[in-house]
Parts: sequence; structure tokens; C-alpha cells
Amino acid sequence: MPFLKNLGVEFAVEIGSGSGVVITALASFLACACFATDINPEACQATAETAVLNGRKVDCVNMDLLGAFRNRLFDVLLFNPPYVVTDPCEVVGNGLNRAWAGGFHGRQVTDKVLSTLDLLLSEKGVCYMVLLKENNIQEIQRFMNENNFKSDVILERKLRGEHLYVVKFSRIL
Ligand SMILES: C[S@@+](CC[C@H](N)C(=O)[O-])C[C@H]1O[C@@H](n2cnc3c(N)ncnc32)[C@H](O)[C@@H]1O
Repeated sequence: MPFLKNLGVEFAVEIGSGSGVVITALASFLACACFATDINPEACQATAETAVLNGRKVDCVNMDLLGAFRNRLFDVLLFNPPYVVTDPCEVVGNGLNRAWAGGFHGRQVTDKVLSTLDLLLSEKGVCYMVLLKENNIQEIQRFMNENNFKSDVILERKLRGEHLYVVKFSRIL
């Protein structure tokens, strides 16, 4: 974590904050403005409560991805997306299904964020994303490279039949 401490983070955001544990932990660690979004209103409430219970300030907004944050560039973007391969028609509504249903290749939501990362991150900004082996990491890395982002796998874990990665995306400067 020294990397993040030294990055000079002013604005951090977690997309899909769920319980709020991750963004609250980040808010405990970094002195910066912390935001969260979730498509599920109950998740937003949980995030707000988790932050308050831990004495942290996190502004959580019920929205699709970062749609309402126009022109705000983030120094840190966290996303543990719904990555499970499902029928695309399961990626609907704002209920609990949105926590896992990832549609085709489990990438329906992930790809929307990665293809607009350039417009979401500040010059020094970094994005940490959880991905599943079935999401085809190599293809994602190729696409990001073509779009001037390097991607480093910083963690790899096999958990209860899932082969997971945490990938860090940052601009090729
Ligand atoms: C895998 S869960 C991760 C929850 C939490 N961040 C964690 O790591 O434990 C995915 C979260 O993303 C939210 N989500 C899914 N699609 C979203 C979208 N388009 N915009 C915002 N949030 C979304 C879900 O409601 C869910 O809370």
C-alpha cells in the first residue's frame, strides 16, 4: 500500500460498493474524498451504514456505474464487478442478481468500465479490478494495451472453485 500512500490521491471511488467494506477500508487508509456507487439501493444504504459505523465519510450514490459523475476524474477506482458468466438477459434491474450476473463471458458490465477508463481516471489514476479466469484476462490486457493502459496482475487466488485475479490498470505514460 505504500504506492497508494505516495500517489497523492484526492478522489477515490468504488463502483458497486455492496456492503461498503472495501471503500470504507480505503477511507480509513487514505486521507481523500471517497465516493461509492451501486445500482442496488439497498447496497447503497449498507455502504453508508458501514462507513458511519466505522467513523468514515463515504458519499454513496445509487446509480449505474459512474453515470452521474460527469467530468470528475478519479485517482483511484475500485471495482469488484459482477463477473459470473450468465445469460445476458440476467443482467437487468437493480436487485441482488446484479451482484453476480455478468452476461456474455461475464464481461457485460466490466467492459463498459474498461472501455471508458480513459475518461474516468486522472493522469496518474489507477483502477483495481477483480476478474475471473473465464473473463479472458489476456484478451482484456490486449484491449487495454491497445488503448494505452498497462495491466498488472497483482493478486491471483483460487477460491471455492473460482480462479480470481486482481488487476491494476494504469496509463502507459
Ligand atoms: C461482486 S459485488 C461486489 C460487492 C463489494 N464491492 C465487494 O467487493 O464485496 C458487485 C456489486 O456491483 C453492483 N453493481 C452491478 N452492476 C452495477 C452497475 N452497473 N452500476 C453500479 N453498481 C453495480 C452490485 O449491485 C454489487 O453490489
